[in-house]
Amino acid sequence: MPVVLPVGQADTYNYRVVRQFTLMTLAWGILGMGLGVFIAAQLVWPQLNFDLPWTSFGRIRPLHTNLVIFAFGGNALLATSLYVVQRTSRVRLISDGVAKFVFWGWQAAIVSLLISYPLGYTTSKEYAEMEWPIALLVLAVWAAYAWLFFGTIAKRKTSHIYVGNWFYGAFIIVTAMVHIVNHLLVPVTPMKSYPIYSGATDAMVQWWYGHSVVGFILSVGFLGMMYYFVPKQAERPIYSYRLSIVHFWAIISLYIWAGPHHLHYTALPDWAQSLGMVMSIVLLAPSWGGMINGMMTLSGAWHKLRTDPILRFLVVSLAFYGMSTFEGPMMAIKTVNALSHYTDWTIGHVHAGALGWVAMISIGTLYHMIPKLWGQEQMHSVRLINMHFWLSTIGTVLYIASMWVNGIAQGLMWRAINEDGTLTYSFVEALEASHPGYVVRLAGGGLFAVGMLLMAYNTWRTVRAAEDSSGVLIAELAAAK
Ligand code: HEM
Ligand code: HEM
Repeated sequence: MPVVLPVGQADTYNYRVVRQFTLMTLAWGILGMGLGVFIAAQLVWPQLNFDLPWTSFGRIRPLHTNLVIFAFGGNALLATSLYVVQRTSRVRLISDGVAKFVFWGWQAAIVSLLISYPLGYTTSKEYAEMEWPIALLVLAVWAAYAWLFFGTIAKRKTSHIYVGNWFYGAFIIVTAMVHIVNHLLVPVTPMKSYPIYSGATDAMVQWWYGHSVVGFILSVGFLGMMYYFVPKQAERPIYSYRLSIVHFWAIISLYIWAGPHHLHYTALPDWAQSLGMVMSIVLLAPSWGGMINGMMTLSGAWHKLRTDPILRFLVVSLAFYGMSTFEGPMMAIKTVNALSHYTDWTIGHVHAGALGWVAMISIGTLYHMIPKLWGQEQMHSVRLINMHFWLSTIGTVLYIASMWVNGIAQGLMWRAINEDGTLTYSFVEALEASHPGYVVRLAGGGLFAVGMLLMAYNTWRTVRAAEDSSGVLIAELAAAK
């Protein structure tokens, strides 16, 4: 049954595509995180690899990372950017046909990953594992998305461009740039290619790309989301418009230089490593600029946290953003990285950002947006949102705390040396010491994933209620006319 929106919104905006992206964010989120739980279980019970190539950790892990980043995160960014750009520009998307192409094209690219990775087709570059035909499809969809987004801004009925759109815009442009440069390759068969770069150059280009995925998708894109939905949910204007502009320019000019911190103590020239380290430390300032601007937007509205679990999701996500962007610059210092690199500390850092920031801000935002998209007052159950909040928060804390303990233990055990210069611990001893941490991480990840199932149920009930009340709304609309 069609969904009927309140008078005035029905045909002003293209909400259909936003609704589609929203539902797929949830579906892919459950699958991607479900696979995260599965690979976390494999690290506790290796038998779960089943001795089959396509269910092995090595093939499922990239499926997890790509699904959570591009399918869950990507659909959330596409949904919200297309919602925000219409509302802040006060104009409908410039083309419904292109919007449809972007939606179906993006889902087709994700399904291609879902099939090709378990079969073993991969470029073996982290977060860029997709082989060249899929990379070309992604490029075509991205070009259409850019045209849709910037074309809508060009036709806006407001004098200025709202700051959230600046962040979304930078995310769109830089993602296209690094995707193209990192995928310059020579195809040899329909599913095999070789990069045009080699050796240290290849590694540098790859981590320039890899860190830009962190910086422009997982940070700048989600800051765009933050700048619209935190003020909306708090019903307060953004704390400082000036700060938002200053930290925008600072963050986009710094992130692109930080990639070498992924390659400390490698064949990369020493000066490049030091440059990456310095740029990463400086990056703390604009990152915290965003966090502070978001947090301070709640000035005078802190009491709302007592009753509003959606706002709690948004605020706690900002706290995790602040925490991970403090931890990142520390880990970029070469001497700290000598301990943390290759250990579970990195995995803990990743998920402080991924679960605490990326997933929690997306969840809060979707809870804000879903009732509006389906013409409802609020979500079916606020109690379930509250339960979801606690599951996510406790799950994230268990995940990152266990990985900190594991990471530091591993780093220290690997470097411990006896008086005669031999290693104090074998690798297997460090692995055994990590086992309890893997169990706790599995429990934390499991709690987070259960929260996503509650959200799916809550959404389903909200959408169903919208469909049930459509008849009533149609009558009301007729009466209003
Ligand atoms: C239920 C939630 C989740 C669980 C249980 C989970 C679990 C895992 C596990 C077990 C790994 C492999 C760690 C290793 O190789 O030692 C991993 C890697 C990774 N996950 Fe998750 N994950 C979850 C959610 C997410 C989300 C929401 C994101 C992003 C938005 C994410 C991003 C990543 C990334 C980027 C890596 C690769 C890290 C690296 O190479 O350093 N995960 N995850
Ligand atoms: C100021 C901000 C940040 C800085 C300077 C930073 C720095 C770092 C450093 C030094 C590493 C370890 C590199 C290594 O030893 O291999 C790392 C890994 C990582 N960080 Fe951050 N980080 C920041 C924020 C974030 C945020 C907000 C996220 C969001 C999810 C994130 C996601 C990741 C991921 C996915 C990796 C693992 C990459 C890989 O090896 O596969 N970082 N980061």
